[in-house]
Amino acid sequence: METHKQELAPKEVAWLERFGIHVQAEDTSTEMSDIDTVDEVCFKKSTTSKVYLANVLENSGCQTLSAKKYAVKVSLFPYSKVDTILKEIELLQSLDHKNIIKPIPLEHIVKITSKSEAELRIKPENAFMITDFEEKGDLHMALMAQGRFTESDARHYFRQAVSALKYLHDRDIVHRDIKLPNVLLSDDETVKLIDFGHSVDLNSGTLSNHEGESEISSISDIKGTQGYVPPEMLDARAKIMEFHEFGGMTDCDRPKIRINLKLADIFSLGVLLFEMVVGIPPFVNANCRDSCYRSFYFKRKEDRFWRVHSQAKELDEQGQISEEFKNLIQRMLTPFPKDRITIDEIEQHDWLKA
Ligand SMILES: Nc1ncnc2c1ncn2[C@@H]1O[C@H](COP(=O)(O)OP(=O)(O)OP(=O)(O)O)[C@@H](O)[C@H]1O
Ligand SMILES: [Mg+2]
Repeated sequence: METHKQELAPKEVAWLERFGIHVQAEDTSTEMSDIDTVDEVCFKKSTTSKVYLANVLENSGCQTLSAKKYAVKVSLFPYSKVDTILKEIELLQSLDHKNIIKPIPLEHIVKITSKSEAELRIKPENAFMITDFEEKGDLHMALMAQGRFTESDARHYFRQAVSALKYLHDRDIVHRDIKLPNVLLSDDETVKLIDFGHSVDLNSGTLSNHEGESEISSISDIKGTQGYVPPEMLDARAKIMEFHEFGGMTDCDRPKIRINLKLADIFSLGVLLFEMVVGIPPFVNANCRDSCYRSFYFKRKEDRFWRVHSQAKELDEQGQISEEFKNLIQRMLTPFPKDRITIDEIEQHDWLKA
């Protein structure tokens, strides 16, 4: 792959070259793209990155051919290291699935003007990733606009999310931050899983597989978003915090907890599915201090759990939520990882076949 050198800052040249894009000394080619205007996309502000909308004009010579919208995700230093976004790009470039976001090959965006660079506030310590901009936004935004989805619509989105997660799990990759805002919807209602900043390959690195489980020994091993984190991960966090509070100093004392990270992904996906159909989260936190989760699992009062949510959303107690849906949710949100349904079993579940 080759691209043009003009107007690229040294940081960008280094970045392009890291991805095997050779930067030519001079190029007089007439085909070029140019980030013309850059508007900040006002999504929820993240502590680690900002996502901007870039209108890119596809030029041929001095003639503008078309304008296309891209999303530019810029890491925010010092909360996110440049490496985090570079690893995200590297991982995404190695994947090929229609329901997983794909970074734009940079030969399509060869010229980043100094103006847009300033607008994007790209500093040497920042890195960025460019993807197609999805006008429909994420599933959280769609849910806020609609209130809740019919089971049939939710099934349509869920099937695609399951397909993406199966693709990842078959390759021993775990996502570790599945939630509504991390699933985009394209114009033709195709789901795109995004935000692979916490994802890991279980065949390499510190979280590698030991008989299907990974060793969690420090707080930084615990990822995910409140409400989506499974109970076994919350327990692990509590044990590690306790170790620090009681002055555990040596590595021998450090608790080493084994967790199946694929089953942790399934739990988060279960929360996402519940939210799509019911319109509200199933609980605040999946632990026994949470009255909703406690009644659901620890007291085995599933009926009460469904009744409380039905009343909250003014759903009819009978009929509006199917028994197959309830069964699937119960199998995804169980606190016992050994009982939790796997991605292969989800594909065969009656609710998906309807
Ligand atoms: N290609 C895109 N098209 C449209 N919107 C996008 C796109 N990429 C990201 N977004 C929006 O930006 C938000 C943040 O993106 P992303 O999750 O990748 O960043 P993040 O910093 O890791 O976020 P967080 O830490 O909040 O999960 C998404 O929830 C989505 O609303
Ligand atoms: Mg996100």
